Amino acid sequence: MKINQHYKTLETSYLFSQIRARREAYEAAHPCQKVLSLGIGDVTLPLAAPVAEAFAKAAAEMGQASSFRGYGPEQGYGFLQEKIQGYYKSLDVELPLEAIFVSDGAKSDLGNLLDLFDSDNTVLIPDPVYPVYRDTNQMAGRRILYAAATPENGFLPLPDPRQKADILYLCSPNNPTGAVYRREQLQQWVDYARAQGAVILFDAAYEAFIQDPALPHSIYQIPGARECAIEVCSLSKTAGFTGVRCGYTVVPSELIRDGLSLQAMWLRRQSTKFNGVSYPVQRAAEAVFTPEGMAACRQAVRQYQANALRMHQVLESLDIWHTGGINSPYLWMRCPGGQSSWEFFQFLLERAQVVGTPGSGFGQNGEGFFRLTAFGSPEDTAEAMERIRQALA
Ligand code: MLT
Repeated sequence: MKINQHYKTLETSYLFSQIRARREAYEAAHPCQKVLSLGIGDVTLPLAAPVAEAFAKAAAEMGQASSFRGYGPEQGYGFLQEKIQGYYKSLDVELPLEAIFVSDGAKSDLGNLLDLFDSDNTVLIPDPVYPVYRDTNQMAGRRILYAAATPENGFLPLPDPRQKADILYLCSPNNPTGAVYRREQLQQWVDYARAQGAVILFDAAYEAFIQDPALPHSIYQIPGARECAIEVCSLSKTAGFTGVRCGYTVVPSELIRDGLSLQAMWLRRQSTKFNGVSYPVQRAAEAVFTPEGMAACRQAVRQYQANALRMHQVLESLDIWHTGGINSPYLWMRCPGGQSSWEFFQFLLERAQVVGTPGSGFGQNGEGFFRLTAFGSPEDTAEAMERIRQALA
């Protein structure tokens, strides 16, 4: 038999699996030391009370013959689609329900969406960026071009008309750098994509962290985006759903390529390969969008933002160059003393028992940088930053 040879081009393991393995090896060798994580962007606050209540109520319904439900509608329950539609309306974006697909999270959809595109396409990926974009395309053997995100361009690369690509990835607020595109910058990407007939895969997983009211939360706030963009969003970071699993993807009907509707293709793909998100999870997600749920989720985001501010202050006091942490839960710092990203990872693990994420794991341009997440508890974050201060003093 022939297996997919493209897997040979990948790193042996996924970035966050490598980090976990290094942490576990260290913990096994030093069982008395408490390791603190500012590494993977995993939330630590529990689900908001209205969300947990809706989740439990729906689980109880499933235990009663009168309210039990089997397979749900293919694109998600109408009650949740309508809430997502209402959320977009609050951003001045009008979406028909048919464009909204409930999913089990952004990561799966970002990979699965590639089913819509031939492997003989060129992909343009910012560097550094969330490694899932690169890895999933490498698995299919697509040609990959990179758009360099550097301190000089504020980690916000803009289109270069000399680069010809069919599929473009944008992540704003950006993972890992925390940079956020302004409207006129996103407009340049939309214009470029339309001129090339390309499709933008827009990852909005961190939009809830935007504090500056002038910054766009959705690509559909940009004129012309419906003809060229698919948006993927997640409740993981907005509402603490990393373990619950729920997100949504918007595929507008205006998106036609090669005479085919991408919306119709995505429905065909999802109804064939995916059986939807469980009813209790969708009820929990619905509760996120109620006034009480939204207020509670915003409160949690504010706690993470307070962590980010504290982290910023410590890095500032150490005179370490860094960015992010304002409209994003990630701080992106230069490794002190000219260390490489993995050297600094090891240094922090051994000297401070703190885990972060090496910037080089997000791409070549991430070498020499390091990412810290603000998703810890206030106590652990304060302790981790104090340990970092002492290790670097
Ligand atoms: C990260 O740390 O980059 C994210 O938590 C990964 C993810 O959302 O899959």
